[in-house]
Amino acid sequence: MTDSKKKVNEQVDVNKNETIADNTNVLESYEIALGETKLPVRIIDIEDYVSHYQILLPDVDFVTRALLDETKRDLVSEIQFESLSLLTPDKFKEMKIKFLTKAKEKLKRVLSKESENSIAMLSRVLVNEMVGLGDIEYLLADSMLEEIVVNSSKDVVWAYHKRYGWLKTNIQISDEEMIRNYSSRVAREVGREITHMNPLLDAHLATGDRINATLFPISTSGNTITIRRFSRTPWTMVHMIDPAFGTISEEAAAFLWLAIEYEMSMLVSGGTASGKTSMLNALMPFMPANQRIISIEDTRELNLPDFLHWVPLTTRPPNPRGEGGFQC
Ligand SMILES: Nc1ncnc2c1ncn2[C@@H]1O[C@H](COP(=O)(O)OP(=O)(O)OP(=O)(O)O)[C@@H](O)[C@H]1O
Ligand SMILES: [Mg+2]
Repeated sequence: MTDSKKKVNEQVDVNKNETIADNTNVLESYEIALGETKLPVRIIDIEDYVSHYQILLPDVDFVTRALLDETKRDLVSEIQFESLSLLTPDKFKEMKIKFLTKAKEKLKRVLSKESENSIAMLSRVLVNEMVGLGDIEYLLADSMLEEIVVNSSKDVVWAYHKRYGWLKTNIQISDEEMIRNYSSRVAREVGREITHMNPLLDAHLATGDRINATLFPISTSGNTITIRRFSRTPWTMVHMIDPAFGTISEEAAAFLWLAIEYEMSMLVSGGTASGKTSMLNALMPFMPANQRIISIEDTRELNLPDFLHWVPLTTRPPNPRGEGGFQC
């Protein structure tokens, strides 16, 4: 056992369904924050092929669950759901805050004895279930995670951690229909659809994170969702040339700067998740500010600084009837 591994002597039930055995080692523990809601996370070394990621999810008992469902019905009738489709990221954020405020007001009225903290936590549960991706939203709030994947309702959600690689989480989506609903919700927000005729979706969330979804039977064991979580503090060339990251030498970075300045053609290529998009984003500020930049992407991933003159475009696959496609 290394120094960094701490032995857990007491039995702690972090996962509601799984009691951690006495021989479990905690590799790391930290807290993630989703708005006012703070949740403890532990990475544990358990007898399995991979380590486990355990997050203490908000505990909602039977009676509170019934109350939440009732509040949900009230909110649905009050909020115009049609307006949720095709929102810009800023409008989407605004709408989520409005939703959270309304949920809080309602819950405060029906649960007057509860503390501010539990009201905030329960409102978050409501918002996640109604306009978010349910429990996946908690994983999206963890900056140490790079990828979050749902393989089917039969499997737990897996996550790729910056330090520990692939981990099994204690979150599981209870049925296939729910995974499909999440994909449809994301598709609607970006003006696309995912159906049996068109069972593959490539899109991005309002946070900018990239999402891919597939439906059964294209994915033979169930509906899937894969989210590439982007760093909230984007990679810049300063990071890239930092010897601690060891990505690129100062000379190579200076050469690329000159190449962009003098309008040379450039191809950024590499294996999956090798850092192409991050490098491209880090190179973008080298674009001369007196040029008009037109970008065309399959899913929006580029982020240019505000001082640049930029028109971002995205492609769109045609619908199953072959209509509405926009390709470059
Ligand atoms: N220079 C770097 N050093 C360390 N990690 C990096 C670096 N660049 C990117 N990453 C991390 O690697 C992951 C993959 O990066 P990115 O999305 O840029 O790869 P990609 O090649 O565009 O992937 P894909 O092939 O799926 O489009 C991200 O989580 C990112 O934070
Ligand atoms: Mg990429």
